[in-house]
Amino acid sequence: MIKIVSIIGARPQFIKAAPVSLAMRGIIDEIIVHTGQHYDDRMSSVFFRELGIPKPKYNLKVGSGNHGWQTGQMLTKIEKVLMQENPNWVLIYGDTNSTLAGALAAAKLNIKVAHVEAGLRSFNREMPEEINRIITDHLSNLLFCPSQNAVNNLTAEGIVNAVHIVGDVMADSIVLAKKIAGTSSDILSKLNLSAQKYLLATVHRAENTDNENRLLSILTAFNKLKEKIIFPVHPRTKKIIKKLGFKFSPHVISSEPLGYSDMIAVEMSARMILTDSGGIQKEAYWLGVPCITLRDETEWVETVETGWNVLTGSNQGKIIRAVNSYKKPESHFSLYGDAPAAERIVKIICQS
Ligand code: UD1
Ligand code: UDP
Repeated sequence: MIKIVSIIGARPQFIKAAPVSLAMRGIIDEIIVHTGQHYDDRMSSVFFRELGIPKPKYNLKVGSGNHGWQTGQMLTKIEKVLMQENPNWVLIYGDTNSTLAGALAAAKLNIKVAHVEAGLRSFNREMPEEINRIITDHLSNLLFCPSQNAVNNLTAEGIVNAVHIVGDVMADSIVLAKKIAGTSSDILSKLNLSAQKYLLATVHRAENTDNENRLLSILTAFNKLKEKIIFPVHPRTKKIIKKLGFKFSPHVISSEPLGYSDMIAVEMSARMILTDSGGIQKEAYWLGVPCITLRDETEWVETVETGWNVLTGSNQGKIIRAVNSYKKPESHFSLYGDAPAAERIVKIICQS
């Protein structure tokens, strides 16, 4: 049986890995390594419980720190695990420091790397994620892309072998959550929300949180909007809001991060979503909810081209105007694949 070490560590990676791990069961010997990049219950364990992800064999407990320190710690610890386990493949997801450390540790040991969500580019090298993506893709032996655009980005960088369009595993995750969670979430009644009568917001990107002016501009826009806003706050953002002493207007309801089923339920019934998250832009599209992206560029260009996503950056005037003047397009195309991406990935790995 093929042996795979899956390296995960941050919230979106738990969500992406869940359907792939399920598709591997009984076919591939999967060993899960949690780097410990995210560690709060609401950023980590909740997703293992909700999505039925097997307990990691290794938790490297790296925790938070500067990029070099965090990536270095992961690299050292992942290398040790890989030397012990000697897998056929290392499987990595997305563009976090855990992704980069997994790719680098494997490549240095001549272990093959398979990258899920390959080929995404923002063309903004100030983003830590862009650096992680570029290096990871160039070290990968199998590249799983969600779209033709992603394939084109790789082609432009000379990566043409072992590139596969498989769709997006996050679409599988929504289906899996519905299947595993069974009954639907009661979060709407808990938060006293009526469908279409509120906006949902998330902010966590370094480019917004580490720049006081950008963050204040976004938060002020939330305060100035005249609608109820549900705002589950990433711990990174929570710390900075506290430091700035920013006070929300009563219509902005901030909370701890939500579990995945609750999050999907709140997304599904929102009138609009305001976010700088990568994953949430796609979820908004799949759920047919208009999205305002609080960034200057996006990797998920198709959502903008189809009119379902508007880029505003952090400018409060632009954000408010976009929310108030948005017109829903009449058409909604299928984006990032319909068929289960996870099964395609497992099949290709088994044949490679
Ligand atoms: C990371 C990823 C980002 C991804 C995001 C998903 C990198 C460079 N960035 O950003 O691409 O979009 O995860 O959410 O890998 N913290 C806690 N508890 C936790 C986790 C984090 O309090 O469980 C706080 C710490 O103060 C930490 C800060 O959040 O310093 C940032 O965490 P980190 O993992 O470094 O980056 P994210 O902003 O979460
Ligand atoms: N998410 C969640 N609870 C929250 C915020 C986000 O379950 O409070 C989920 C969201 O539905 C999506 C994923 O986390 O599936 C996105 O992760 P995040 O925004 O942290 O990272 P990004 O996608 O930007 O890398």
